[in-house]
Amino acid sequence: MKLLHIDSSVLGPHSVSRQVSAAITDRLAKATPGLAVTYRDVATAPLGHLSGSHLAAAQGAAPDAALQPDLAAGQAVLEEFLAADIVVIGAPMYNFSIPSQLKAWIDRILVAGKTFKYNDKGVVEGLAGNKRVIVAISRGGFYGADTPMAAGEHLETYLRWVFGFIGVTNLEFIAADGIMVGPELREKAVAGALQAATDLRAA
Ligand SMILES: Cc1cc2nc3c(=O)[nH]c(=O)nc-3n(C[C@H](O)[C@H](O)[C@H](O)COP(=O)(O)O)c2cc1C
Repeated sequence: MKLLHIDSSVLGPHSVSRQVSAAITDRLAKATPGLAVTYRDVATAPLGHLSGSHLAAAQGAAPDAALQPDLAAGQAVLEEFLAADIVVIGAPMYNFSIPSQLKAWIDRILVAGKTFKYNDKGVVEGLAGNKRVIVAISRGGFYGADTPMAAGEHLETYLRWVFGFIGVTNLEFIAADGIMVGPELREKAVAGALQAATDLRAA
């Protein structure tokens, strides 16, 4: 069984989402003999943003030599995602949504014919439904349905849509909220998220 672990926070050792995604991976690795873990850090080794040249290369045009390493990285990202049985993602909220580095990763895995397709009625069909996806999210404030900030939540809602679009129904979120409100709330949120990671069902 294969687990792909992605991190995207720019805050290195101070990151909450990194701490929680590591705890999730650790929990599943300990509970699953022989689990093969692949790690990708899209903050320290960012993928390029999609350009017209990327799209032309995908249509068969000969790419510039300068684009080759990024195209190869994009192909590797897609292949390791397709091969994974479990995907663990550390996803902080930056300006109400995911970090742009994580968006660049998503831009490489949402590929027609690989992770989704349109059927003859024009209805989308996800092709990646065989995976369990667990997302560790961390947010500075609170975005619950009963809060004034609810309409500004484009992190969890966006990721739910993205993974639903490609057919993933086995999707779990572990959230650490209120990280920037004060030290006590931060401590409580991190402890709660780490406990949720420990309590995850085994693979
Ligand atoms: C650039 C930046 C933008 C942020 N934007 C928001 C935001 O829009 N809403 C929010 O609740 N918190 C925001 N925060 C706070 C983070 O969501 C919070 O610190 C969280 O713990 C970040 O995850 P990390 O610790 O894994 O990096 C922002 C933090 C940074 C560094």
